[in-house]
Amino acid sequence: MDFSLTEEQLLIQQAAKDFAHNELLPGVIERDEEQKFPLEQVKKMGELGFMGMMVDPKYGGSGLDTISYVLVMEELSKIDASASVVVSVNNSLVCWGLETYGSDLQKEKYLSRLSTGERLGAFCLSEPEAGSDATSQKTTAKDKGDHYVLNGTKNWITNGSSADIYLVIAQTDIEKGHKGINALIVEKGAEGFEIGPKENKLGIRGSDTHSLIFNDVKVPKENRIGEDGFGFKFAMKTLAGGRIGIAAQALGIAAGAYELALKYSKERKAFGTEIYNHQAISFKLADMHTQIEAARHLVYKAAWDKDQHQNYDLSGAMAKLYASQVAMDTTIEAVQIHGGNGFVKDYHVERLMRDAKITQIYEGTSEIQKIVISRSIINK
Ligand code: CAA
Ligand code: FAD
Repeated sequence: MDFSLTEEQLLIQQAAKDFAHNELLPGVIERDEEQKFPLEQVKKMGELGFMGMMVDPKYGGSGLDTISYVLVMEELSKIDASASVVVSVNNSLVCWGLETYGSDLQKEKYLSRLSTGERLGAFCLSEPEAGSDATSQKTTAKDKGDHYVLNGTKNWITNGSSADIYLVIAQTDIEKGHKGINALIVEKGAEGFEIGPKENKLGIRGSDTHSLIFNDVKVPKENRIGEDGFGFKFAMKTLAGGRIGIAAQALGIAAGAYELALKYSKERKAFGTEIYNHQAISFKLADMHTQIEAARHLVYKAAWDKDQHQNYDLSGAMAKLYASQVAMDTTIEAVQIHGGNGFVKDYHVERLMRDAKITQIYEGTSEIQKIVISRSIINK
């Protein structure tokens, strides 16, 4: 067993840390307040190779491992979770799915530009009546011979208006249940494809979340990913890896809040001494540090499982379940350690607390992770 990172992984971690401090930190409060998408920053992350980290260099990617990816997600999320979710969706839900299951033509046409950040992707599974219950897809993709006709509404779509390429899950044959579902590549601007209004959110406010409406949108058959009826398995397999990225996001949010709380506890004085000298504060810091380290082990282990080509459904779900709880607990305590200052925007911890909550909801709620975990351990 070797817990050390390689020299390459350490360099990538440092590059992400530097980028987060130099490029994401300035303006992060304003972007949150104004719900402004970090467009410039995403372009720069593309140049740094963060948008297609695990993609083969022959398709414009960085050819790195999942450990490097979670290290980057962690560092970016310490500062700006709105920016890191853009990275997460593009890397794990869009590029990974296309590279693993896409045709040569789809990889040539779409992957190469997505992995460099020249184009941005979105993953569209959720619907008004199909969130956790993802097999209940109401969006239809009628088979018309050489093309599909897409009708329906997706909601909560990350990169909803900023994306160029959308992976859309839809029901082709209701009789076949989840085996009648397909995953289709839809380009922005397709006739009948409309982007709904932006959601006004509690957290990750810099990320643009929209509903999408499809009205008789023609999608060529060559844009179907995998065999007919593979769409639901495609979504599940893709989400299994996506959950590792969100677990790393949760870890980063927790670690970012902890670092701020530790620093503040050494600066702020009360009753004639720095507040860390009060055991009530130092014990909070001890709990935070321990829980973050435990979350980190789960996240890195899930990433390692994926890199070793072992099953990561269970380890990814456990990492997301635990790290997202640690993100909530840690950020709430970080606000507490900051006292009144924790309640105002300048100190960052209130934003981290608001951002933490989404990690328990998207890419499968905590309750859904428990379904995945319990089914996996019972069937072992
Ligand atoms: N890998 C491969 N196949 C899988 C799988 C996996 N990890 N998980 C399930 N499947 C397969 C099953 O084997 C089954 O196929 P067979 O009948 O051929 O065996 C099929 O999928 C249906 O599975 P279930 O019977 O288990 O389906 P279910 O209705 O009980 O639901 C669920 C399972 C795990 C709850 C699933 O519906 C789920 O994951 N729900 C949560 C949805 C979700 O995570 N949405 C996230 C949207 S994206 C997002 O949120 C992005 C973002 O914010 C940034
Ligand atoms: P519901 O499924 O209605 O769940 C409501 C509550 O019931 C939850 O607590 C849930 O855990 C619980 N529950 C439901 N079923 C069970 C059960 N069987 N057992 C126990 N408890 C249960 N989706 C995408 O496809 N693409 C995206 O890019 C995307 N980005 C998102 C970004 C944001 C900011 C948000 C808020 C959501 C995003 N989502 C996206 C959607 C997200 O994945 C769903 O919100 C999530 O899967 C939950 O679905 P729901 O909101 O319909 O909740």
